[in-house]
Amino acid sequence: MRVGGLAELYEVIHRRRDVRGEFTGAPIEPEVLRRVLAAAHAAPSVGLSQPWDFVVVRDVATRGAFREHVSEQRRAFAETLNAQKAEVFERIKIEGILEATLGVVVTYDPARGAPAVLGRHTIADAGLYSVCLAIQNLWLAATAEGLGVGWVSFYTEAFLAELLGLPSGIRPVAWLCLGPVSYLEPTPDLERHGWRVRRPLEMAVHEGRWGVH
Ligand SMILES: Cc1cc2nc3c(=O)[nH]c(=O)nc-3n(C[C@H](O)[C@H](O)[C@H](O)COP(=O)(O)O)c2cc1C
Repeated sequence: MRVGGLAELYEVIHRRRDVRGEFTGAPIEPEVLRRVLAAAHAAPSVGLSQPWDFVVVRDVATRGAFREHVSEQRRAFAETLNAQKAEVFERIKIEGILEATLGVVVTYDPARGAPAVLGRHTIADAGLYSVCLAIQNLWLAATAEGLGVGWVSFYTEAFLAELLGLPSGIRPVAWLCLGPVSYLEPTPDLERHGWRVRRPLEMAVHEGRWGVH
């Protein structure tokens, strides 16, 4: 049984982009934001634990404080690079925290549904995988709605938890910049700037055993 429009689904998947520089800052209609968050909330989760929450951050002062912290982390990372990589990194924008309309911080609660989380007894990370699926649902729904998403991970969890008043044990998994964009680049920023290229699919697919292509 086929569900929904195949061509449109693949178009959204392949057009999705990580956005840093193309946010317009225009408002997001409340019902659009709700649809996007509802798509995230519809994700599969280990043992139906639904371990995610979404903190919608509009306040400019909070976003400014986060951006300051991200800039420090960017400098710290840059110091670990050799001269050639540092030069390429210098040209790469890694966030659009203030330019985006708002931020959505997606969190992980390992205690939700615990201790008997069905399917997590051998793989603790399955809870985190579930949160990442919610993020991907959000990303694809936003793309279909004409919005851009930019995942920011240049932060320490302790800083962001403190900034947002997260209860002890709740981990921030992603800060997502969200909002209308002027356009979506056809090629990932990191590829355009010569940081890394996508591997061909043939290299990623193995037949039966590792290394057999
Ligand atoms: C877990 C995760 C963390 C990421 N963190 C950042 C980040 O801190 N800053 C950034 O500019 N992009 C970040 N990205 C975006 C990636 O750089 C991007 O997905 C990748 O280069 C491929 O580009 P595309 O998403 O446009 O296809 C992150 C993506 C993921 C999945």
